[in-house]
Amino acid sequence: MPIVMESAKKRVIIPRGEVADIVARLAAEITRDYKGKNPLLIGILKGSFVFMADLVRCLDFPLEVDFIRLSSYGSSTETTGSVKVEQPLRSKVRGRHVLVVEDIVDTGITVSFLMAYLKKKKPASVRLCALLDKPSRRRTPVTIDYLGATVPDRFIVGYGIDCAEEYRNLPDICVLEE
Ligand code: PRP
Repeated sequence: MPIVMESAKKRVIIPRGEVADIVARLAAEITRDYKGKNPLLIGILKGSFVFMADLVRCLDFPLEVDFIRLSSYGSSTETTGSVKVEQPLRSKVRGRHVLVVEDIVDTGITVSFLMAYLKKKKPASVRLCALLDKPSRRRTPVTIDYLGATVPDRFIVGYGIDCAEEYRNLPDICVLEE
């Protein structure tokens, strides 16, 4: 663990109850648009695993789930700007209604890469659901079709989101403070 984080304090910015309300609201929007379409939900690992698990349990209709593991940060806190597919999809995308499920959009580089990557595979449609958006950091334009909440330009952790692989298991969404 980096020494700088040993003194970091966590401050809750979205408590777990509010997260659950946000997830339920997103699920209602997704149900309205996707019920009967057997969509393919694609989560971006690792950060989306908690959000995906809660979201799909609020969706009461047939759907499929897959994951892709992308990485642009390595072990750094600054994006390298180039995205690598660390673990590919297993599902066929062609002709499917695809919904990308992402924990946080920061610079936008990760989801921009994935949306372009998926469009080349000729889905029937592809949209983005993001739990959190940090628009102050954007480096490339991103359309978020289903958005949970906007967060400030602080170091966000919890609910799947890490700092140097720590804190993913926090049930609340927090900022790290020195
Ligand atoms: C984080 C986060 C998003 C991405 C957002 O993932 O989970 O996927 O960064 O950043 P961007 O908008 O600047 O591209 P990370 O690459 O750290 O991997 P992880 O999900 O395995 O933690």
